[in-house]
Amino acid sequence: MTQPKLVAFSGSTRQGSYNTAILKAAVNAASEAGAEVDLLDLRDFELPLFNQDIEAGGGLPEAARQLKARFRRADGFILASPEYNSAFSPLLKNTIDWCSRAESDDEAPLAAYAGKCALLLSASPGALGGLRGLYSLRILLQNIQVTVYPEMLSVRSAHQVIGADDNLTDAQWSAKIKNLTEAYVSFAGKLAG
Ligand SMILES: Cc1cc2nc3c(=O)[nH]c(=O)nc-3n(C[C@H](O)[C@H](O)[C@H](O)COP(=O)(O)O)c2cc1C
Repeated sequence: MTQPKLVAFSGSTRQGSYNTAILKAAVNAASEAGAEVDLLDLRDFELPLFNQDIEAGGGLPEAARQLKARFRRADGFILASPEYNSAFSPLLKNTIDWCSRAESDDEAPLAAYAGKCALLLSASPGALGGLRGLYSLRILLQNIQVTVYPEMLSVRSAHQVIGADDNLTDAQWSAKIKNLTEAYVSFAGKLAG
């Protein structure tokens, strides 16, 4: 089995984000399971809200080019998304949209996504942990040819299990994230061939 290269990022750039906290727990688990993980902070890739006029005027912004290059090097993704009004975050949608665009006529369609896989996580203070948002994210990703791992994980009552230092302190949730991430790394490794 190949040790997969994974790119990981949170759909929230909020200070103290619960999603970033659980993402970091998954990244640690993935690294321990042998994956090579590129943990991105989307604050380092500030992008305008997608507008085709911007693209027509000057192609992809530099931050989108850099982000897309990192995606292209990866075999798969680990994503954690907040749920806003039952959908995944606009930051995530904007990021995915920019990186779905080709930079030249001879570039393969959806070069940053096609044939890759994704693990989806969410966290919320609410009772469902943001799970509803992951279903719409799943559909989007499948439509851009990403195989979404069947099992997803949503940490409910996140404010009770994530400490002030943005770390997941709860042993049961930590174990669930670890187990799921290990299974996903194994899956991603097989897919990467
Ligand atoms: C505009 C908005 C809409 C929200 N809608 C939901 C929702 O539908 N379901 C939910 O569980 N939490 C909802 N929340 C609460 C978020 O889950 C909460 O702010 C969470 O901390 C965001 O994730 P983060 O900690 O990673 O930034 C909403 C928050 C905002 C700002």
